[in-house]
Amino acid sequence: MKPNIISLILAGGIGSRFKTAQNKLIYDIMGKPMVSYALDCAKSFSKEVFIILGRHNRDSVLALNSSLKYMIQEEPLGTGDALSIFFNGLNQDYKENSLIMVLLGDVPLVKEHTLRLFADFFSDRNLSVAFISTKVPDPKGYGRVIRNSAGKPIAIQEEKALEKRHLLIDEVNTGIFLFKTSFLKKYIKELLPNIESRGEYYITDFVEIAEKQQEACDCYFVEDYRQFMGINTLHELSTARDHMKSRINRRLQLSGVDIIDPENTFIDLDTIIQNDVTIFPNNIIRGKSEIFRGAYIGPGNFIENSVIHEGAKILGYSFIKDSHIGRETAVGPFSHLRMNNIIAENVKIGNFVEMKNTRIEKCSKVPHLSYIGDADIGKGVNVGAGVITCNYDGVNKHKTIIKDSAFIGSDSQLVAPVTVGESSYIGSGSTIVSDVPDFSLAIARSRQTIKKDWVRNRKKE
Ligand code: UD1
Ligand code: CA
Repeated sequence: MKPNIISLILAGGIGSRFKTAQNKLIYDIMGKPMVSYALDCAKSFSKEVFIILGRHNRDSVLALNSSLKYMIQEEPLGTGDALSIFFNGLNQDYKENSLIMVLLGDVPLVKEHTLRLFADFFSDRNLSVAFISTKVPDPKGYGRVIRNSAGKPIAIQEEKALEKRHLLIDEVNTGIFLFKTSFLKKYIKELLPNIESRGEYYITDFVEIAEKQQEACDCYFVEDYRQFMGINTLHELSTARDHMKSRINRRLQLSGVDIIDPENTFIDLDTIIQNDVTIFPNNIIRGKSEIFRGAYIGPGNFIENSVIHEGAKILGYSFIKDSHIGRETAVGPFSHLRMNNIIAENVKIGNFVEMKNTRIEKCSKVPHLSYIGDADIGKGVNVGAGVITCNYDGVNKHKTIIKDSAFIGSDSQLVAPVTVGESSYIGSGSTIVSDVPDFSLAIARSRQTIKKDWVRNRKKE
């Protein structure tokens, strides 16, 4: 029988190298907080997932997921101390014949597949302790893997304790460990504080302990070092985002999405994009957005939690949030759909149109320079240039209803609550304050007067 794997995420550290008020684990990487990467990865192969938190970040991490099983490390006395706190607090049943997989909260890019191979490596060799190592271009800050003349890993030396003769070692500890619970039961008390780091306990010391006690210990080398980058500074955070961005764009490109400039296209992890979509440079597509087959995303848009249906065209430089854009509908350039808009098929939303909380049925047009808020617009409606729904009376918001086939002349204001009836016309420049019945014309502006020869006569005076 395969032993049960219990996962532990270490996240009790202060993250002082970030130098920010917000805890580093909460920072977003392509739509997902840093700590959630390790948590989700652990959940995919482990029924029991625990996390070690500090007092300083407990509330912010639990706000992401209140059902986490966590333990508190009162003082950040090192990764070894965090493991001890967990192990000492662990229910006795779990300690029998289980494996503990240790992941780091600040190492988010590791792939589930890698961890499965690591677990197989561990079981096949019947090891007591193992860790994943890799080679990085710049090993500074990582623990270095020390091997004996036979090539067996016998210790991990942290940067602070690094001996001169080991300076050139570029094989590093990724921080990911597997332990047999029977090993930890025997040796957890043997972990001693390290002098060079003001008494911190290092999980990495277990490699030396295993060597001394002749317990089976080995390391699993993985070539692709990008998976294991530890994020200790905001600079490293931006590098991690860059890796994640490339991973997402590559996956989409291989599934048939034409991303013209993947360097400058930022798509969140949870965003879904079907094949035959074309995406021009400088787009940011975030959250639970969904873009269907054949859509065209012109340059420079910001799209968040929105659905773009088949064949729709976002013509560029538009902001679209919490909205639905129907089939074959065109939006932009320079449109601002800021929340909760439901736009049906074959609609046209043109330049400099701001819209919120509005529903538009098929084949309607709002082509130029409008503010449409809290409105319900029927089929085949034409909204002229510069039309404004006056939805706010200073206290409350009110609704504008425009029924099918109505025609709203340019530069009109619709003072809500107000309804424009089916097929009715509003004369240009009208201020409409009361309902317009179906099939009618409403004009609400002063009549034009002509004073013939007024200019000539004035000059004579
Ligand atoms: C650690 C490893 C190093 C490895 C590197 C990989 C140790 C001693 N060093 O160094 O060998 O190359 O990760 O990225 O393990 N944490 C706690 N409690 C603490 C201290 C840290 O839970 O008291 C957590 C942190 O929140 C973090 C993780 O452990 O998620 C790693 O801690 P960090 O201080 O960043 O260790 P590194 O110096 O990066
Ligand atoms: Ca780290």
